[in-house]
Amino acid sequence: MTALDARTDPATTLRFPEGFRWGTATAAYQIEGAAAEDGRTPSIWDTFSRTPGKVRNGDTGDIAADHYHRLDEDVALMRRLGVTDYRFSIAWPRVQPTGRGPAVRKGLDFYRRLADSLLEAGIRPVATLYHWDLPQELEDAGGWPHRETAYRFAEYAGIMADALGDRVATWTTLNEPWCAAFLGYGNGVHAPGRTDDLAALRAAHHLNLAHGLGARALRGALPASAEVSLTLNLHAVRALTRSPEDLDAARRIDAVGNRIFLDPVFHGRLPEDLVRDTASVTDWAFVQDGDLAAAAAPIDSLGINYYSPSVVAAGSSESPAPWAGAERHVRFVPAPGPRTAMDWPVDANGLHELLIRLRDELPGVPLVITENGAAYDDYADPSGNVKDPERVAYLHAHLAAVHRALEDGADVRGYFLWSLLDNFEWAYGYSKRFGIVHVDFATQRRTPKDSARWYAEVIARGGLAE
Ligand code: NOJ
Repeated sequence: MTALDARTDPATTLRFPEGFRWGTATAAYQIEGAAAEDGRTPSIWDTFSRTPGKVRNGDTGDIAADHYHRLDEDVALMRRLGVTDYRFSIAWPRVQPTGRGPAVRKGLDFYRRLADSLLEAGIRPVATLYHWDLPQELEDAGGWPHRETAYRFAEYAGIMADALGDRVATWTTLNEPWCAAFLGYGNGVHAPGRTDDLAALRAAHHLNLAHGLGARALRGALPASAEVSLTLNLHAVRALTRSPEDLDAARRIDAVGNRIFLDPVFHGRLPEDLVRDTASVTDWAFVQDGDLAAAAAPIDSLGINYYSPSVVAAGSSESPAPWAGAERHVRFVPAPGPRTAMDWPVDANGLHELLIRLRDELPGVPLVITENGAAYDDYADPSGNVKDPERVAYLHAHLAAVHRALEDGADVRGYFLWSLLDNFEWAYGYSKRFGIVHVDFATQRRTPKDSARWYAEVIARGGLAE
């Protein structure tokens, strides 16, 4: 089928709008490797992954998918997929090793080269400034619970916009600040591995501040046409029953999981119920005059990462939980149905629910799915094929949910599949495979899975054939 035939094929019953952005996503620490090359210094993830017991099998991102040395091959893979966009992140310690002062030329050159080869392949580069790899020196100085880190981030944002603004038009300040704050400082399952509810709440606030100051710095250095955004892992929270107690449990998780970011960023305020719920932890005196207005710097779109919903009821969950005390009133209930290799429930309705909520609560804000995908235990069969029908089914269901949300009036502009490559899945190391391209970590051989062929066809058709 030619490209034109594919776009007009009547079997494509769920057609996406013209200009819809079809992408894949990755993050620096998860794929680059080259952890000590060309002036890069350790990030909190280098330190954390070297701490015994923190990452499965003692895996680290030292080599990862060796993307730093295989950039051309990886861009060629994407060209074959036909993606219009590629979302990658910039490793802060590669370009500004101490988290302050001038940038390292070799680090900048790598991202310039990446952006140039993407543009040459006709793929739009979409850069995320912070996907969790804080320079260790900034953590040693206090990390995200410390206000100064937000100022450091704004400086770094300005440096990157100056260096890449001529090639990269789409920027995201932070990826999933909830994880950075609550998994990093709350229950400690992510770097830097601290377990302190107050530190998690302070981190969340300083991430909001960093986002706002970073967005302002980006705007100051980028052309007016540039797009500035933020990516949140919004929680699709459902109460187990309509009882007031269960509904209150859902409200608590919505406050500390979603509105803790949405309210400052879009309305310049803190949720009142969050302040009440966390009164035993803090009086929020670390929020200074002007911080919330700074966090609400205008942005052009909101990125949403969605994998699965959460069902909650009144009760209490096992500690340590990452919810800054809210979990003392909340029990997480395992949702029924199929699960991925992460043991996450497969439920595409949660994505539709989120998009409809955002349609209603944030009218006029374009939405982009910046991550969606699934881990399964993939392997290459003797003939070298990687068959991943569960992933194809997962992706199909979630894209159909996005299509349904579009029909219902949600302003969704694009979809980025997580992930291009199998990679370092944080505390799970290399044990979980999210890629549509299989990576043999012993040889670094890349093998597109069946899902990669399926996705290429979706892109060529501009939608789904049922
Ligand atoms: C969200 C994170 O942004 C990404 O780094 C991670 O690999 C995926 N979720 C899957 O857990």
